[in-house]
Amino acid sequence: MPNPSLLILPGDGIGPEVMAEVRKIIDWFEAKRGIAFDVSEDLVGGCAYDKHGTPLHDDTMARAQEVDAVLLGAVGGPKYDNLDFSVKPERGLLRLRKEMDLFSNLRPAQCFDALADFSSLKKDVVAGLDIMIVRELTSGVYFGEPRGIFEEGNERVGINTQRYTESEIDRVARSAFDLAMKRGKKLCSMEKANVMESGILWREVVTEVGKDYPEVELSHMYADAGAMQLTRWPKQFDVIVTDNLFGDLLSDLAAMLTGSLGMLPSASLGAPMNNGRPKALYEPVHGSAPDIAGQGKANPCACILSFAMALRYSFDMGDEADRLEKAVNDVLASGVRTADLLNEDGITPASTTEMGDAVIKALDASL
Ligand code: NAI
Ligand code: MG
Repeated sequence: MPNPSLLILPGDGIGPEVMAEVRKIIDWFEAKRGIAFDVSEDLVGGCAYDKHGTPLHDDTMARAQEVDAVLLGAVGGPKYDNLDFSVKPERGLLRLRKEMDLFSNLRPAQCFDALADFSSLKKDVVAGLDIMIVRELTSGVYFGEPRGIFEEGNERVGINTQRYTESEIDRVARSAFDLAMKRGKKLCSMEKANVMESGILWREVVTEVGKDYPEVELSHMYADAGAMQLTRWPKQFDVIVTDNLFGDLLSDLAAMLTGSLGMLPSASLGAPMNNGRPKALYEPVHGSAPDIAGQGKANPCACILSFAMALRYSFDMGDEADRLEKAVNDVLASGVRTADLLNEDGITPASTTEMGDAVIKALDASL
């Protein structure tokens, strides 16, 4: 078997800073666990524009299509704000998502014990929380036709169309069931089948796909009730699958149950490749943070945890993913904090590098 392949795209701003810490962790896995990755690194976003005049070179795009997983830092920054829309840094990321056809967006809400106080909810509601929202990313009301602002009589009307085909629902449902199989084998599907035909079809297709996954306990919930349940008692969920619009809202809601932007990883998955692994792009939820870029202040955990997701969902190394997530938890438990995780004065924050080094030490301690 060839080594698992990984394309690293650090990008702009704090992207390269947080990615440098992930590189140390990748090296650790090779040195201490004998897990070698075939790693290549390339440009995306503003730095790619600076070099090639485009935020994503065709060669980089081609490489992204071949590898087992892409790990991206962040793109963008004030330096590029006045560029033409067609070459803006974000276009590089959008092109990756579109051409890899990444229809399944995974947003975990995971609460690290040491940060439970950081939540706006009560500590026991969030302590130990570990759920995953799967959001359909390439269809639904953000893409459906007709759309636009039209004249109707003597006023204007704004129109967007919620549209889902059976195959679009089927593939995101399969992606969610596959994830549920790697996790707690519980899946809750959310739509509004009470008021939307697309929701009725959604429920039917998800139920049908569920017959292929008899081990997964499937439930359905209206998305508005789901929002209530997510804030009331989020630990009732394991994996949630929902459409693009509801997923946009529910994933942001769920993510914030647990605290800082600097802690939030994500993944976007596409169709299975020849080797059975889904096409995959892993990235922190945060952006390039120009306000702190170049100062060694960024929290590398979101990017480190994105790599942990790659271990779990692209490389079938769930035990190693657990090890890495536990290392991050142990570091936080020991009191190490980057500036974004501190809300009191008098504690010296850890730098990006110190946080990365602390995770390496915790990994060593796990052996
Ligand atoms: P942002 O996520 O970059 O920053 C928001 C706030 O959170 C800032 O105060 C920042 O310092 C802080 N922050 C973010 N990540 C952090 C980390 N790892 N550690 C500590 N603090 C962190 O969002 P913003 O400011 O709206 O956008 C800045 C640039 O990033 C823009 O050019 C935007 O287009 C781009 N962006 C790129 C994304 C991507 O690459 N996926 C996503 C969001 C924004
Ligand atoms: Mg984002």
